[in-house]
Amino acid sequence: MKWSKMASVFWDSLARERVDYPSAMTIPSDVRAVFSRWRRGEPLLDGPYIQQFETELCRYHAARQAITFGAGRMALYAILKALKCQPGDEVILPGYTCIVTANAIRFAGLKPVYVDVSAEDFNLVPDLVEKAITSRTCAVVAQHTFGIPCDLDALSDICCRHGLSLIEDGAHAIGARWKGQLVGTLGRVAFFSTQLTKMISTERGGYVITNDVELGARVRAIQAAAAFRDVHQERASLLRWLCTTVFCSSPSWSGKYALFRLIATRLRLPVISAILEYDRQEYTNAIAGIQTPPYPCRLPNLLAYAGMCQLLRLDEEVARRQRVAHWLEQRLPAQGAAVAKYDSARSTPSWVRFPLLVDDRQAWAQSLRRAGLAPGYWLNDPIHPAGSNWEKAQYSRGSCLVAEEIASRVLNLPIDRRVTLMHLNKWLEAIS
Ligand SMILES: Cc1ncc(COP(=O)(O)O)c(C=O)c1O
Repeated sequence: MKWSKMASVFWDSLARERVDYPSAMTIPSDVRAVFSRWRRGEPLLDGPYIQQFETELCRYHAARQAITFGAGRMALYAILKALKCQPGDEVILPGYTCIVTANAIRFAGLKPVYVDVSAEDFNLVPDLVEKAITSRTCAVVAQHTFGIPCDLDALSDICCRHGLSLIEDGAHAIGARWKGQLVGTLGRVAFFSTQLTKMISTERGGYVITNDVELGARVRAIQAAAAFRDVHQERASLLRWLCTTVFCSSPSWSGKYALFRLIATRLRLPVISAILEYDRQEYTNAIAGIQTPPYPCRLPNLLAYAGMCQLLRLDEEVARRQRVAHWLEQRLPAQGAAVAKYDSARSTPSWVRFPLLVDDRQAWAQSLRRAGLAPGYWLNDPIHPAGSNWEKAQYSRGSCLVAEEIASRVLNLPIDRRVTLMHLNKWLEAIS
């Protein structure tokens, strides 16, 4: 009975049409390590790897506390609850973000206030943040979009002067640095995502980092009171994590991606589509601005172990992405694509994806596909993804014009270890 229920949850999760490009950080030996622990009967949900992963995260970020959750959005929710803002207080965030961030603010009883971003690095414009501060503002969410750190000096200064909490949104940016220091400990508190498309994948997941001991203790209490997702759902998550690793870890992934996408979206074969997907109901609710219980929930034990395996290889992967990004930055402007401009003396991006601004997005996406590369469609709307309920998110069209312009022209390119310079050269030769 249990197994049949688990199979039906997994099958249901397979029956989805969206296909996303999963993290490249998982490798077959991670799968072997996780599944041998599962076979030995080690607990899927509550167990020692949660704390071990948190200890490793503290070591990695040089932070005093790390507290894991079932998603990055839930980590933000826990931070906002722990900050003890008054109901209805305002939280400033970029008008170029994911609806789940706005949802977390709303679910915590607070009001999202959107501020426009820079056309150069897609991040918050500090002067506009200062102008948006009112007597009700309690925090600023500083999102490091696409893994490019935002101006943490200016934002910290503004938050200090106005007595606000600076929350770093590092969902895209594990491994990015500001003036040589990893992002995450430059504000009062930070959260990260380990969802399957991010720098490391626990299929779904996220964590809080802070050096503020009291705040950390309050976040920890929220974690302790949170439930795990249903065991069947987490078994399905583990299987999806397995599938993404097995199907997506080879360098020829980009070619397979095109095939998967074709089959999944045109023929609608549920098995293929499911390999790359996450929970359909949770997704549908999120874009409608509806909370899916348990919210917040906890990161399960065996997926925490999966995260630990990947953390060991992260620095090497980030360095590789930085080399590829540098190579692209030197070549793409000559092809008519604008690339992000940032102060490289202070900002060292981690490049969860490499964003380009182009005039004919469809033609560029087609050229990427022809070269066997998977074009990414993140943040094609100021409130991502397409179809999100802007009214619920309290975003009004026209309020962040630069973000809307960027959203209409952005395309992103995965530059993880599966994407070699050979792929990129082939693509550039084809478009020049
Ligand atoms: C900028 C940003 N912040 C926060 C999140 C939330 O992360 P999660 O999906 O782990 O809840 C996302 C999700 O993609 C995101 O893109």
